Amino acid sequence: MFSVSLSLFLYGSLRQPTMKLSDLIILVSRLVFFSVLWSILMADMALSIRFPDRISQTPNDSPNRTLKTATFALGSFWRSEAVFGCLDGVVQTTVGYAGGSKPNPEYRSLGDHAESVQIEYDPRLINFRQLLEVFWSSHDSRQVFGQGPDVGNQYRSIIFTNGSEESRLAAVSKEREQTNSKSSIVTTQIQQLGTFYTAEPEHQKFELKQNPFILQLIGNLPEEELDRSSLAAKLNSYSAELCPSKIQKQIDAKINDIIRKGWPILKEL
Ligand SMILES: *[C@@H]1O[C@H](CO)[C@@H](O)[C@H](O)[C@H]1NC(C)=O
Ligand SMILES: *[C@@H]1O[C@H](CO)[C@@H](O)[C@H](O)[C@H]1NC(C)=O
Repeated sequence: MFSVSLSLFLYGSLRQPTMKLSDLIILVSRLVFFSVLWSILMADMALSIRFPDRISQTPNDSPNRTLKTATFALGSFWRSEAVFGCLDGVVQTTVGYAGGSKPNPEYRSLGDHAESVQIEYDPRLINFRQLLEVFWSSHDSRQVFGQGPDVGNQYRSIIFTNGSEESRLAAVSKEREQTNSKSSIVTTQIQQLGTFYTAEPEHQKFELKQNPFILQLIGNLPEEELDRSSLAAKLNSYSAELCPSKIQKQIDAKINDIIRKGWPILKEL
């Protein structure tokens, strides 16, 4: 639109067969005015660059996409969420409480529930079996009454299943783990998923929230958007350094690139 109006302006000036000096001065000053306006527009466009919405090729907005849900408990849910957030095909991650009977659990009183992560994934890009592999390789399923430095029943290891096929895959993978772990018992439970209680906002994308710079880089999304965002799930993993090293480096490079171009900017005080 801008180019069109510029052309019309210039056309209007050039059309006259005889051009006086004063006309020429007017034409030149118009040119100067437009080029200044042009640079301001371009600079403004450059400054409003946002962190690109796609680091991987996940088809985020295909209208027909059917997503599946998987839920696991494998220790502190801050870390669990970051374990899965960077995987190709994982669209959304949410932390919460599951596996117990207490209604409406809260962080400080979660009763018999386990800290859990719920993963929404695109089954065309990743399947339940692959998620199980990540589950097993991301924690110590033989540790009793805790995980890593975290002690307590809320950190126990659980595979939640939905339907007999998932239960079968879970059981087969657990058997294999037990075979490989000769001397100690694999403590992981396999349960049909009951109610999943979403945890308080401050626990969602916890690792990312420790990194205000990146939060700012993606535009300080409001909580609901942050919770749904695949980009936030990925950057949550990145913040915990749990993306594969190749992806970590790719994101590093992208961020450095944005910094070099002069973003973020301070918009107001
Ligand atoms: C979505 O599904 C409809 C009907 O099944 C089909 O006509 C359309 O091409 C599909 N669109 C995409 C993007 O797959
Ligand atoms: C369980 O599976 C059924 C059928 O595959 C699906 O409709 C339902 O949404 C699933 N429930 C959860 C919690 O994933």
